[in-house]
Amino acid sequence: MATAASDLPSGQYYRDLNEYIDTLERAGKLQRVTRPIDKDTQMHPLVRLQFRGLEEKDRKAWLFENITDAKGRKYDMPLVLCAMAGSSDIYALGLQCTVEEIPRRWDHAQAHPIAPVIVSSGPVHEQILRGDDLKERCLSRLPIPISTPGFDNAPYTTASHWISKDPDSGLHNVGNYRGMVKAEDRIGVYPASPGYGMRRHIEMWRERGHDRLPAAIVIGVPPAISYAAVTRLPNDVCEYDVAGGLAGQAIELTQCVSHDLLVPAQAQIVVEGFVPTNIQEMEGPFGEFPGYMAARDYSWFMEVTAITMRKKPIYQAFLSQFPPSESSKIRGIGWTAACFDYLKAAGFDCVQEVHFPETSGSFGVCLVRIRREKDDDATRILDHLSKKFVGKMAIVVDEDVDIHDPNAIYWALSYAMQPHRDVRVVDIPLMALDPSIAPPGASRGLTGEKPRMSGLLIDATRDWPYPPVSLPGKEFMEGAIALWQELGLPELKLRKPWFGYNLGSWSADEAQEAALAARGDYFVTGEKQRGERRTLD
Ligand SMILES: Cc1cc2nc3c(=O)[nH]c(=O)nc-3n(C[C@H](O)[C@H](O)[C@H](O)COP(=O)(O)O)c2cc1C
Repeated sequence: MATAASDLPSGQYYRDLNEYIDTLERAGKLQRVTRPIDKDTQMHPLVRLQFRGLEEKDRKAWLFENITDAKGRKYDMPLVLCAMAGSSDIYALGLQCTVEEIPRRWDHAQAHPIAPVIVSSGPVHEQILRGDDLKERCLSRLPIPISTPGFDNAPYTTASHWISKDPDSGLHNVGNYRGMVKAEDRIGVYPASPGYGMRRHIEMWRERGHDRLPAAIVIGVPPAISYAAVTRLPNDVCEYDVAGGLAGQAIELTQCVSHDLLVPAQAQIVVEGFVPTNIQEMEGPFGEFPGYMAARDYSWFMEVTAITMRKKPIYQAFLSQFPPSESSKIRGIGWTAACFDYLKAAGFDCVQEVHFPETSGSFGVCLVRIRREKDDDATRILDHLSKKFVGKMAIVVDEDVDIHDPNAIYWALSYAMQPHRDVRVVDIPLMALDPSIAPPGASRGLTGEKPRMSGLLIDATRDWPYPPVSLPGKEFMEGAIALWQELGLPELKLRKPWFGYNLGSWSADEAQEAALAARGDYFVTGEKQRGERRTLD
C-alpha cells in the first residue's frame, strides 16, 4: 500500500538514505536479513525471486546486515537493494506521494527545478581514504555484489551515479552507469549511447586535448537524486536541479577531495578518480535490462584516487537485468515523465498519456495515447519521438485505448491500423545494449563502425469516424452489473472498454433501429427493409 502524502512526517524531504530506509521499514516495505549472505552468489538470486514469484504489491526493499563474499571475507557495512523502485509503491514512498501522484510530481519537478546549494563539507567526508590508505584495499572495502552469478564476469556497481562535467560550461552530469570492478583501484564504465551525458563529456574533454576526465561515483543518496540520475533529461539540464525539484528542496553538494566535482554532501559513499579519455579496455559481459547478457566490448574505465564515506555507510545496489526489475521500474517512471514533457514542450497538447511497458525493459516499446485534434497529429508525434524516445517501436493510439492493457493495444493494432499506410521504419539513435543490433563480437558503436538501429513507427489511431464499439450500451451494462451483484457472483475487475460507445459514424436511422430492437419492435425495421429491396442483375 502506498503511503498517502498526509501520512508522511514533517513535510521535509529525506535528508539521507538512512531516513528513507526508516520510512520504508515503517511502511512495512523493508525486509531485513541478518544471517550471513554471500554477496557474490546468494544476494541477487534471493531478491530476484520476488520479481519472478511475487505480485508487485508484495515486493520489498532488502537490507542485508551480514555480508560475506565468495572468499569468505566479511564486510563491515550493510547493503540495501530494491530500495528505490522495488515496486511502484516503493517509488511513491521515495517521492513522498501516492502512486497516482507520481506523474504530477515529475511534471512539477521538470517545470520547477531547484538549483543545489554548495556546502563546505558533509557526512560523506566523515572518512577520507586516499594514497596509502587505499594501497592494500580500495574497492574491495565495498560489498559490491555480483548481479547475475553464473554469467557476469565481476562484481559491478549498479546504483552508481557517475558525476562528470562539461569542460566549457561546468554543467554537471549525473548519470547512472554500471561499474565493473577490474582491480582494487580500477573500475569500468559503459556509457552505451553517443548522446548520453558521460559519453559526451569524455569525448568533449578528449577533443579539448585533456588525456583524463575527472569523475566520481556517488553511491547511496536520497531517492530524488537516483530518480533523476537514471532519467534521460535534456543534456542542458542538470540532474541535481531536477532532483531538487522532485525533493521540493535544494540538494546540498560538496566538493570532492581529488578534484572540483560536486557530489551530494549527504551521500553514503563517493569513489573519486580520473577516466583516461583516449584508452579503452574490454568491459563485460554483464546481465542487462533487455533481458540478455550484454556482450563484452571496449569501453572506458576510471582510476580511483579516493574513497570518501560516512562513518557507518550503507552500500546501495539496484536489481536490474531481466525485466521486470528495479531498473525497469525506476527508468520506466522517469522516462515516461521525460517523454511526456518532451512531447508537451514540442506543442503536442493532444497527448494524454505515455507508457513504456516494463517487459520491454521500459525502453523498447513506447505507447502514446492522444485525443486527436488534427489528422496528422499521430504522424508528427511519431516523427518527434523518433529523434529520442522511440525505443524499438512507438505506437500512437486513440484516447479510449488503455495503454496499460496489452489486449487493448492488440485491438488497436488489429483494427485501427493498415501497415501499408500507417507503419514506417526509420533510423533511430543507437543503443548499444540492444542485442539485436549486431552479433556478439561485432562493433556496437562505442568507437569505430556504428551499427544501424531502426525503429518502427505505428499510427494505430482511427483514420476516420468509426462505427460504435460493439459492446452493449452503457445503460445495459450498468443494468447487468446490478444483476451480477444481485446474483452474488464473484467480484468483477472491469477492463476498458466495458460498454459500447459512439465513435462518430452512427446515423439517426441506425440509432433508431437499435432503440426499436431493444424495445422488441424489430419487425418495424424488417418492414422498412422490405420496402428498400434491390434486385441483382
Ligand atoms: C540500474 C541501471 C543501470 C544502468 N546502467 C547503464 C550503463 O551501464 N550504461 C548506460 O549507458 N546506461 C545505463 N543506465 C541508463 C542510464 O542511467 C540512463 O540512460 C541515464 O538517463 C543516463 O543519463 P545521462 O545521459 O544524463 O548520463 C542504467 C540505468 C539503471 C537504472
